[in-house]
Amino acid sequence: MKYLVTGGAGFIGSNYMHYVVDKYKEDYFVCIDALTYAGNYNNIKDLENRDNYKFVNGNITDREYIYNLFEKEKFDCVINFAAESHVDNSIKNPEIFLKTNIIGTGVLMDACIKYGVSRYHQVSTDEVYGDLPLDRPDLLFTEKTPIHTSSPYSSSKASADLLVMAYHRTYGLPVTISRCSNNYGPYQFPEKLIPKTISKALNNEKIPVYGKGENVRDWIHVIDHNIGVDLIVHNGKIGEVYNLGGHSERKNIEIVNIILNQMNKPTSLIEFVEDRKGHDLRYAIDSSKVEKELGWKRTYFFETGIKETIDWYLNNEEWIKNIESGEYKKAYKKILKN
Ligand SMILES: NC(=O)c1ccc[n+]([C@@H]2O[C@H](COP(=O)([O-])OP(=O)(O)OC[C@H]3O[C@@H](n4cnc5c(N)ncnc54)[C@H](O)[C@@H]3O)[C@@H](O)[C@H]2O)c1
Repeated sequence: MKYLVTGGAGFIGSNYMHYVVDKYKEDYFVCIDALTYAGNYNNIKDLENRDNYKFVNGNITDREYIYNLFEKEKFDCVINFAAESHVDNSIKNPEIFLKTNIIGTGVLMDACIKYGVSRYHQVSTDEVYGDLPLDRPDLLFTEKTPIHTSSPYSSSKASADLLVMAYHRTYGLPVTISRCSNNYGPYQFPEKLIPKTISKALNNEKIPVYGKGENVRDWIHVIDHNIGVDLIVHNGKIGEVYNLGGHSERKNIEIVNIILNQMNKPTSLIEFVEDRKGHDLRYAIDSSKVEKELGWKRTYFFETGIKETIDWYLNNEEWIKNIESGEYKKAYKKILKN
């Protein structure tokens, strides 16, 4: 089988690349990434010499480039992780979210139809369901929860999901969608809560926390998300949506306190700032469908997963420093020169 994995230099995509390139030695994986500010070639540099792997620097919105790539490589399966993924950026500049997340998805699916790809998987998010009240812990998102978005980011992801289902119904494209809750783990760009808090704490800088830090997210280890995606790609039913969640709801302020405690840093570093516009209150996933139908089960308990993750960032300070200095942007150019 020949796979195209998009967004493989980002946080979740790079973890996915490591997982599948190791696991499926008989298959071949082409990783495409535009290396936007969030794409970090250092995340996948160690895969360079693998026989069943290749990296290409390209943009999923570039129809001509994508068609040429599909024509040349003859993929069997496409897994789309590529996205603009930071909600705050989508509030400041929505347009690039519409281009990459919606148009990019459309271009990939057009290519799948044109070149007869037998499977397309869309990596989506629980944010397409909007949010849940803080005082109703009994309520969870199921696959039947109506789409009800809050930010330009979640709206662009929801639009892509609708397009994916429309391509399935209209053109018969064999698709699946996974909707996952908040991921934590290695290689996450330090604009997101966990690596940002660690990076700021390392520099003894103030750690901005929205509102009172009461917003609740359902945290899942990136490995568990990727095990789920892999299961859905191989065994998921065509035309179906599967939720993936970590069964680990935590307030943002709890996360920040766990990190400061493990790093022996004072809570006086916390600075409560004006809340994000339209800030979703609570996400919580019911993942019983994927558990029952495909036998998926999370492998990480939050307490051990978060400790390991914090340790990873502390043991890989150079990785963070490279991003802070902008040096990481040169990583791919250095490869091209050699
Ligand atoms: N991070 C989470 O907690 C989370 C949760 C659920 C779902 N998701 C989804 O998972 C996917 C990956 O998220 P992430 O956190 O790894 O994001 P990320 O921002 O870390 O990585 C995105 C990657 O996509 C690449 N990219 C962006 N635009 C591109 C384009 N036009 N063409 C090719 N490559 C492009 C970037 O260079 C980057 O490497 C996204 O689709 C996101 O919506 C993320």
